[in-house]
Parts: sequence; C-alpha cells; structure tokens
Amino acid sequence: MPALIEAKNVTKIFGGGLLDKSRTVALKDFSFQIDSDNPSVTSIVGESGSGKTTLARMLLGLAAPTEGEVLYNGKNLEKLGGSDRRQFLRDVQVIFQDPFEVYNPFYRIDHVLETPIKNFKLADTEKGRRDLMIESLEAVGIRPEEILGRFPHELSGGQRQRIMVARALLLRPKLIIADEPVSMVDASLRATILGSLLRLNREFGISLIYITHDLTTAFQVSEDIMVLYRGSLAEAGDVDQVVRHPEHPYTRLLVGSIPLPDPDLPWEGERAIGRPAGELGVQGDEYCQFHDRCPYAMPMCVQTHPPLFHTHPNRVTSCYLYRESPELPMPQMTSIFKSSNREGPPEETEQLDALDAELEVSQENSSTPTSADD
Ligand SMILES: Nc1ncnc2c1ncn2[C@@H]1O[C@H](COP(=O)(O)OP(=O)(O)O)[C@@H](O)[C@H]1O
Ligand code: SF4
Ligand SMILES: [Mg+2]
Repeated sequence: MPALIEAKNVTKIFGGGLLDKSRTVALKDFSFQIDSDNPSVTSIVGESGSGKTTLARMLLGLAAPTEGEVLYNGKNLEKLGGSDRRQFLRDVQVIFQDPFEVYNPFYRIDHVLETPIKNFKLADTEKGRRDLMIESLEAVGIRPEEILGRFPHELSGGQRQRIMVARALLLRPKLIIADEPVSMVDASLRATILGSLLRLNREFGISLIYITHDLTTAFQVSEDIMVLYRGSLAEAGDVDQVVRHPEHPYTRLLVGSIPLPDPDLPWEGERAIGRPAGELGVQGDEYCQFHDRCPYAMPMCVQTHPPLFHTHPNRVTSCYLYRESPELPMPQMTSIFKSSNREGPPEETEQLDALDAELEVSQENSSTPTSADD
C-alpha cells in the first residue's frame, strides 16, 4: 500500500539563482513518509529557520517543492484532481501556532466548527450538525455549553487552540500536522493541549506530526523524532534514544540547553564552541550545515554533505563522526522508525499518564486555579 503522505527528495529554495544574496535553501533533499495503516506520532524539531514550517506547507500542498515531489496515496499532490483532492483535504488537517488568525472576530465560535461540517456535508440537519460539534468538543475535553455561542475574544488562547483540535477531529482525518501548536500558550496549558492531541492518536488512530522548537515537549509526545538544522536532517529515530543519548553535535547542543526531564539522568549536554568562518576552507555548497558551530569539524565536513549513518537499529545520524556505521539512503530513512516496525497501535497510555501528571502538578502550583477546560 502506498504511504499516506510521502516527501521524496524534496528541496525548497526561496529566492533566485546561486548568486542571489536572498537565496535560501529552506529544505534540502529531504525524504519522509507517513503510513496510512499504522498511526504514529513523529516530532520535527529544530531552531527557528530550520525549515520546519516549509516542510509542513509542502506536505499540506500549500507550497510546491523546488525539486522532488510530495505524494498522497502515491499521487503527486500538485496534480491531484477532483475527488482525490477533496479526500486529501479531509485526510490531512493542520493546526497552526496562532489559532486566533483562523477565527473571524465577527463570528461566534460555532461558525469555525460549522464550516467544515457544511463544506464536507457531514450532517444534513441543524441537530445533526450540533451533535457533531458537541461530540468533537467533548472528545478534546471541552464542555460545549461553555464555549458555543461565544466570540473568539471571549475565550483563552488555550481554549481557542483546543477548539482547533476539535475542528480537525470533526473530519476524522488520518493525519494532523501541528505546527508549534503550544508555543503561544502558557506552560500550564501545554499539557492540556498536547494531551488532547495525543488522545486523538490513541483513541481515533490519527497520526500526528508535531512540529516544535522545544525538545522537551517533543520528548513528551512522540515516538520518533527528526532533528532539522538549517534545512538538513541532522539526526532521526527513536525519541527516547535521541534525547537521552544524542549523537549529532547539534542535537547534543539542543539537549544541553533544555531543562532536564529527570535530574538524575547522566546528561552530557555541551555547548558548541564554534569556529571562525572559513577556517576549514569551504568550497562549493556541499558541506555539513553545522560545520561553523561544530567543535569536531574536520576537513571532510566541508567537502561533501554527510550522508545518513545507520548507527543503531532505530536511529540515523548525518555526521562524519559516525562514518564507521553503514550508510542509509535518505529515501529509506523512515524505515528505521519505531512506528514502521511495530505491530498495532503505539504504547497505550504511558505518555498520556505522564502529561496528566504534569497537568495536575501545574494546577496545584498555579496560584490562580486553572480549569481543565481552559
Ligand atoms: N516565503 C518565503 N520567502 C523567502 N524565504 C522564506 C520564506 N519562507 C521561509 N523562508 C526562509 O526559509 C527558511 C526556513 O523557514 P521556516 O520553514 O519558516 O523555518 P522554521 O519553521 O523552522 O522556523 C528560513 O531561512 C526562512 O527565512
Ligand atoms: S559532520 Fe562534521 S561538522 Fe558536521 S556535525 Fe559532524 S563532525 Fe560536526
Ligand atoms: Mg515555523
């Protein structure tokens, strides 16, 4: 069966030719796929400007790749027509960073939920529409009577974002792409929103691509992780292994700068010391993107882009420090993911229980009690 969504050697370049100063390679030769029959939770992590949103927009068909292609059920997304396009618009939903932009301030909240029901003819009657809205809101832990009939500005950022989750659920998609969904809300609400997204994966079998600059929440929700740096994949694989024992010097840097989930863990976080630009004599545009910040950079790092080295069964790292390991071609990258190698759904409740526990702690610590519906 073809993958639900597949990016095949996708490159996205903004700006003009090689000499154009504004030219940006936002994503370079990236391949990745999401199966339709095995619901997964995959994080894409990287600092601002690493190409995360560009990738999301290409997977959503909102931007066309400069090279390579994005396939939906084996068909090129740019050439989808008629019923395939309509099915794609149901199967793949998105949640963006700032839900306020999605709301029209002059319409009640109901409108944002009614629109997909009407567009996709999910119910014929007024009562049918209302029942669907209520069911979806309750599935993400919102009491419908508290929000229906109200205007966007009357709700908190956390409520607005959870209504977006309910809206995505209405269409029973196969995949939700959430681009920084919790970076505009308080820390105390993060666990609530992430918990409702994770429930969609566990209870409704919806795959999730969680995009974030925050390694801690990626660790909390996902099974597999891809770390991007300046448009290139630095490291990918089992989130537990990548976060606890990062290999790529950039991931080590990221891990070294996050609050530790467990203070007893033997983290070896370190800060990159950087190198003067040009010290290694970069020629051409084939080099490791991290060479100018990497404390281990070697001449080979600026001669060719490091391939993916298959360092462990569930991991790959694009770094010459691991050149003793066999290479894995980029298009096969997702084959090492845990989600590609397990039978049945992901681990049942462990991560959800951890998020619930965090929610309780944040509520206890909060001087102004936070409603779970917030
Ligand atoms: N529409 C655009 N025009 C020009 N450059 C862009 C555009 N969108 C993104 N970029 C550039 O592409 C790179 C990746 O951006 P983006 O995908 O938004 O990264 P992220 O989401 O990881 O912060 C950045 O250098 C950004 O400036
Ligand atoms: S390939 Fe070289 S420059 Fe890049 S991260 Fe590895 S050691 Fe550092
Ligand atoms: Mg972004």
